[in-house]
Formats: sequence, structure tokens, C-alpha cells
Amino acid sequence: MHFIDRRRFLQSSSLALAAGYSRALFAAETPEFAEQPSFEPQGLFLTWQRDPTTTMTIQWIGKEEERARRPIWFARAGVDDWSQQTGSVRDFPMTEKKVFRTELTGLAPDTEYRFRVGLDSAEQRFRTMPAKATNPIHFVSGGDAGVGSHTEATNRLAAAQAPQFVVLGGDLAYENGRSPETFYQFLSLYSRGLREEKRLIPMLACIGNHEVNGSYDRGRDAAPFFYSVFDGLFSDTSYACLDFGDYLSLVFLDTNHNAPVGGAQTDWLAQTLKQREQMPTVFCFDHVPTYPSVRPVNFDDLEVGTGADNRKHWSPLFERYNVDAVFEHHDHAYKRTHPMLDGHIDKRGVLYLGDGSWGKLRRPATPEQRPFLAVSHEAYHLSVHRIEGDQRSHVALTDTGRVVDVCVTTKKSRLKAS
Ligand SMILES: [Fe+2]
Repeated sequence: MHFIDRRRFLQSSSLALAAGYSRALFAAETPEFAEQPSFEPQGLFLTWQRDPTTTMTIQWIGKEEERARRPIWFARAGVDDWSQQTGSVRDFPMTEKKVFRTELTGLAPDTEYRFRVGLDSAEQRFRTMPAKATNPIHFVSGGDAGVGSHTEATNRLAAAQAPQFVVLGGDLAYENGRSPETFYQFLSLYSRGLREEKRLIPMLACIGNHEVNGSYDRGRDAAPFFYSVFDGLFSDTSYACLDFGDYLSLVFLDTNHNAPVGGAQTDWLAQTLKQREQMPTVFCFDHVPTYPSVRPVNFDDLEVGTGADNRKHWSPLFERYNVDAVFEHHDHAYKRTHPMLDGHIDKRGVLYLGDGSWGKLRRPATPEQRPFLAVSHEAYHLSVHRIEGDQRSHVALTDTGRVVDVCVTTKKSRLKAS
């Protein structure tokens, strides 16, 4: 009996037999975990590829021999109903290492689970998302992280918000599709920093130029590290949608890195948003900003300059389906736009939040210089988002924890243009 404590097993067996209920034979299995952890899985982090109310994807990076006899053990917190599951193996590009991925499915919503990698690592925890948005949903977003000291500080600040998950809108590690060491370091910093004691905080992401060797108009092969850990969600395309039960959809877009903004991606976006007209909350995430706070834009002619493709192809769809906010990055500042409709400030329009300063910084234009900006700020920052009934609140924090912006919006009906 390799994994099961024999004494406990025999004890539970006799009890189960006494009860005449054979299924209980294995209900009280307790694996023989090491009293002192002797193995630490590297780059351990959580993400999702399917409904976060009932699934969790666990990934770590290591050598093939490290994975031998180390399945994922998991159980609901407080209940000794341990199960084990092995997962898939893929290459960690340009190295001898592998990415080990285990997707747990059929989980109970809004439930805390314990898990371990094998019997000899420390206990970790995760929590599934609730089945219904009856309680507030809260998460942290940002972009342009990197691996510097500011990244670590923002990681710590993010964890202190105890979010249910984190979304990074591109330019995660700045490995440029070429440096396994840099991507590995990014994952390690996230693994150590984005946790609430034992509870790991899942990470979702969209692709940015610094995931790609060549930045723009390249194939998936040019972004090997991004896909080595995120091709569960982005299995066929560089854009995807993740639905949380029937209350929240996150739409992840690609601003010309692996797929053109126009054409098939825009057709997919139109279909995706139309299918979610009844979804209470729809947020979109992209990397290159539609309304940039730093890079050049000519607001007398919105068909040129940074974000021109987004404005041409996506903004009409964001507006038509009245998405609740668009999160975008790349410019390394904090910005919030006024609600924008057809290139003009309009209270029926769409809110754009950004602009990617988790770990990188530039000086943004002021609202006087760019009238579409409601707020801009030169600061490392993250944003905390909360969905509570009809209200969505967005709070921007600097890396020192100072609040630089608070925005509360109320749910509007979709425009439903013909
Ligand atoms: Fe970027």
C-alpha cells in the first residue's frame, strides 16, 4: 500500500464494512503525507481554462524525474476525502524542463480545497469561484509586469487585496519569446508573491508584444513561453473567452501579436459578444490601448496612431454590446478614460482602464492634453475591481498602496443597435 496510511485504511475499511456501504471504503483515505516537506515544486501557479466555478488548473515546472510518483493530491478543506490526479506534460521551451499541468474538474463551487504536489511537498490551497454572483466578485488587474523589484512590490500589494484572481493584460515577463530564465523568474515571483498564506491566487492573461519574438504579426511559435502555460485557454487561437457560470465573461484579445485585430478575430469578437448579450457582466482585456495615455494618438483623426485598429474594428462592437469595461495596457502609466462612444465622450459609451504599470513606468499625457482621459497618473499601479449587484467599482492603487482613482459605474442595458 503505497500512498495510503495502512492503519487508517484498515480502520476506515472495517467501519465501512460494518455500515454495509462499500463506497465508503475509499471515502476516508488519507494519503501518507510527509511531516516535513522535502520537495518544492517550482513556478507553481493556478489558472483556468474552463469554468472557474467548477475547475482549477494547477501547473508547475520541473524535470521529468521530479514528476514521477507526484500526482496532485486534493481534498476539500476540512474533509479527508483525498483524491489524486495526474496531468499532462509539455516542454518548457528551450530547456530540459517540463510544464506539468493538472486540470481538476467537477469541483464544488465557492469551496476551499487543499492540494499537494506528491506526498512530500507543502500543503497549498485554492478556492473555486461561486456558482452565482450573490456575493461580491473581486479581482485585481494590471499589465506590463516584468521581473524587477517594482514587480515584486506590486505582487505583494496585489496579494494583500486578497483577490479571487488576477488578470494581467500582456507583457508579463518581458522574455520576448527568447529567454526561458526570464519567464521562469516571472512565474517564480508570481508563485511566491501572489498568495494569501497557503491560498494561491489564480492568474489569467492575454498576450502582449513582449511575449512574442518580433512583437507583432508573428505565429504562435514566436510566443513559446506564453503558450507553454496558457494554451489550455488559448488552445487554437490567441484570443479566447472565459465564462464564470452565468454571471461574468472575460474576453481576452490579441492586439496584432499572433492574430490581426481585424478579420477572423473581429468576427469572433462580434459573435462572442452577441452570444453574451444576457451576461450580467462582460469585461474585455487587450494589450495595445484603444485610447493610449502615453504613445502617440491623433484624436482629430482616430484612424491613425496607437490603437487605430482597436478603434476601427473593436470599439464599435464594445459599444454596440455595451461591454462593462475594457482593460488595456502597454503604455506604462495609470489611465481611465471618459465613457467613449464613436470617438466622443458620451455617458452611454465604454470605459477604458489601463495603462500597464505593474512593473514599468512612463509619464502619461494629462487630461488637458488628451480630452478622452478622465484621469492619468504616473505611478506603478494595480487596479482592484468589484462587482456587486448592478455596481462595478474600479480602484487604482499605487505600489505604495495609495488610492489614485475610484470609479463606480452602474450596469447599463446593452445598446442593441440594429
Ligand atoms: Fe507592450
